[in-house]
Amino acid sequence: MQPESAESQALLVPGQSLLLRGLDEQQRFGASLLDTLSPGTVLFLEGELGAGKTSLTQGVARRLGFAGTVSSPTYALMQPYPTPGGQLLHVDAYRVSHPGELYDMGLEDLIAESRLSVIEWGQALYNDYPAAVLLRLEHVLEDENVRRVTRVR
Ligand SMILES: Nc1ncnc2c1ncn2[C@@H]1O[C@H](COP(=O)(O)OP(=O)(O)OP(=O)(O)O)[C@@H](O)[C@H]1O
Ligand SMILES: [Mg+2]
Repeated sequence: MQPESAESQALLVPGQSLLLRGLDEQQRFGASLLDTLSPGTVLFLEGELGAGKTSLTQGVARRLGFAGTVSSPTYALMQPYPTPGGQLLHVDAYRVSHPGELYDMGLEDLIAESRLSVIEWGQALYNDYPAAVLLRLEHVLEDENVRRVTRVR
């Protein structure tokens, strides 16, 4: 399926792609996702280092009214952000060798109490959350300021 322009800001359907030109569009796309994702949703983001997963999450946080900085929680693994629009849970499972580590840290309760849970590098959890939305982010070879986002499921 051909990538569309970033003007269509609704959640993509599975298999559909969109090109995001620059950090601002990356964050605005993240913000646009919220209205289509019901409370308690898990959103998996996959894609290589620097593909823009955390940037997209920053847009979600801003849309929820969070005034602080969302950074990579690589060392904390899981970071709940209290926002005016409800709790945003941000997980970076890059260094997790077994999903049991996240469950031992209370992942399920944190997801249940969150408006939205965004999980980077969460492949080991895909089977546990079959209803989750999965987006893939990729660099576009011809232009370092463009990312392609594809809804996988
Ligand atoms: N659409 C875009 N166009 C240009 N630059 C972008 C875009 N999206 C993100 N960036 C930039 O790419 C860099 C990496 O982004 P980000 O930290 O969001 O990636 P990531 O996928 O979370 O990486 P990691 O896997 O290391 O956590 C940042 O400097 C960010 O500003
Ligand atoms: Mg990141």
